[in-house]
Amino acid sequence: MSSDVYKRLSFLKSQIERHNKLYHGHDDPVISDKEFDNICDEYDNLVVRNPNLGFTKREDVGFEPLEKFTKIKHSKPMLSLNNGFNINDIEDFIERTRKFLNISSDDIEFVCEPKIDGLSISLLYENGELSQALTRGNGYEGELVTENILTIDNIPKKIIDYPEFLEVRGEIFISKNDFEKLNKEQLTNDKKVFSNPRNAAAGSIRQKDSNEIKKRNLMFFAYTVGEVSNENLFDTQINLLDKFKYWGFNIPENIKLLKTLDEIASYYNSMLEMRDKIDYEIDGLVYKVNSFALQKRLGEMSRAPRWAIAHKLPSLIKESIIEKIDLQVGRTGTITPVARVKKVKIGGVEVSNVTLHNEDEIERKDIRIGDTVLIERAGDVIPHILSVVKEKRTKMSEKYFISKYCPACGQITTKKEGEAARKCINTDCKAQKIENLIHFCSKNGMNIDGLGNKQIKLFFKKSIVTTYSDIFKLYEKKDELKSYDGFGELSVNKLLSNINKAKLVNFDKFLTSLGIKQVGENTSKILAEHYIDLPNLIYNIKKATDKVSDEFQYLVNIDQIGISVAEDLINFFNSSTNLDELDKLSQQLSIKPYQKLNVDNYFLNKKVVITGALNNFTRDEIKTKLNSLGSKFVSQVSKNIDLVIYGENPGSKLSKAKELNIKIIDEKKLNEILDKL
Ligand code: IVH
Repeated sequence: MSSDVYKRLSFLKSQIERHNKLYHGHDDPVISDKEFDNICDEYDNLVVRNPNLGFTKREDVGFEPLEKFTKIKHSKPMLSLNNGFNINDIEDFIERTRKFLNISSDDIEFVCEPKIDGLSISLLYENGELSQALTRGNGYEGELVTENILTIDNIPKKIIDYPEFLEVRGEIFISKNDFEKLNKEQLTNDKKVFSNPRNAAAGSIRQKDSNEIKKRNLMFFAYTVGEVSNENLFDTQINLLDKFKYWGFNIPENIKLLKTLDEIASYYNSMLEMRDKIDYEIDGLVYKVNSFALQKRLGEMSRAPRWAIAHKLPSLIKESIIEKIDLQVGRTGTITPVARVKKVKIGGVEVSNVTLHNEDEIERKDIRIGDTVLIERAGDVIPHILSVVKEKRTKMSEKYFISKYCPACGQITTKKEGEAARKCINTDCKAQKIENLIHFCSKNGMNIDGLGNKQIKLFFKKSIVTTYSDIFKLYEKKDELKSYDGFGELSVNKLLSNINKAKLVNFDKFLTSLGIKQVGENTSKILAEHYIDLPNLIYNIKKATDKVSDEFQYLVNIDQIGISVAEDLINFFNSSTNLDELDKLSQQLSIKPYQKLNVDNYFLNKKVVITGALNNFTRDEIKTKLNSLGSKFVSQVSKNIDLVIYGENPGSKLSKAKELNIKIIDEKKLNEILDKL
């Protein structure tokens, strides 16, 4: 008997270690939180009932820090939370709390907050300045990720009215919207897709390239403090949250101060309804005793405090069966396998299509037609498969072999060595043209109401819209349009008027709508800021074809534009078909040049070089700051440069600037000028 228990405990322990690593260390979980909690509960129970087998209760609260980052001990351990899965668990928690404190009435206040599904982080402010950021790591020791954290816009870098030191703890996350954008971009660039927003946030923070992180729009919500030099600044969680706001931190919306179980139950129900409408993932609610004096009395157990509980929301993971697999062709030619599954409701939404991302993913997860699979849905993001339920696999399940031919145009597809995506490289592929047209008209592009998926497919089939410029000639086909099913005089007039309205467009929006590879909303804005209007962009990018030209150097020196984006731009603007089309569009549309918001200031229109290390800014930080004031950054000093900013240990650029008589300023002067603005 005890050897069976021993085996089971060994198995459970190895499972916990494995899933902990997958979840925290690699940001790639394969089972749901609920399943993980079940394994942990069974393990803890068996350990308590079998003390002589040499197993210890789980003291660990996370995962071992990764090797590539410096590890630093937390001033106070970063604990986890105990979980409650139903209202009875919450009733027990309230009862336990009352008993412990010997308070019998409904006098204990609970702060009820959303539980953000992200990555916990500790931010240290010394004398009001953000000096260190640590991940939770294993709860006792975290990874030093200060550089990466500095790229997050909504984290204050300096605070006012500060205690000597203050450790703010909270959650880093990515909005559902940005998560979707990120995964699309990852797919286009043949990079790993993230299984959910939490993993995307965690994966982002644990990568070395802070430039890349900045693009991902990570966010931070503060929820508690670690060590603080002056403990008298707040005496309740509500006061603390107010103080957070005062210091410039964001906190989640929908926080309530409640007392009774009934109030908490209705808060839970309303949050359950709200869940899909909130633009970030929440995987539960946290109920915390409001008074810090009471929290102190309640204290902590080994891995979680006694004064709080996480009330888990139902998992957004359900089982279904794969009925068939179809292939879809994206606008850049990427072929995406999509599983059609037996309809299943997940968190109130009916799911029948599930993305399989690419063929490597099918292989890696060993997904077969007929398999029972675990499907996860996060917000409006297309649901994906977490894993196959192997125990339910039948003999009828069929391995899937992806066709080497494009399902839309029939041409042979390619899959480059080391890349995950299979691509149709036929520039005449119908499917790609249609997807590009859909993108052109979409909200992110020209925003033409009434020209969606369905209409574009119909107009393409009828050959009245095959290029972007055809859209603006549709008024010539008014009678033909009226003859189509579902189109009457009124709807055609409405459509033509929407098309007319879309003719006035900002340059950056227009650029986004062209669907140039790797040139999404963000990159388009950056290009618009630097090149101001379309003729200037075309002129400069064509010149940049010559890689030794100044124009090429200028392009690749733009913050966030690398060689690969530059190459895609050069390819696009060197195609005569594209240039002809741009010519037509320029005549049909009124493309508003980029307008600088900057008012006149010291940095406006200056070409700037930085050399040496600055104390108060990372390179990215100062570049973003001065870009927003109208400066352009250049890597080399030449006579065209207006200003050289130097920090500690400046390189030869400083002496060259002196030689060329270029204005130079040190960091102190830089701060003085910035302070005056
Ligand atoms: S309070 C002693 N409040 O959930 C721990 N945690 O599963 C204090 N989390 O490690 C945590 N939202 O990373 C707290 N509003 C919130 C939270 C929250 C998300 C995370 C946090 C914690 C994990 C526990």
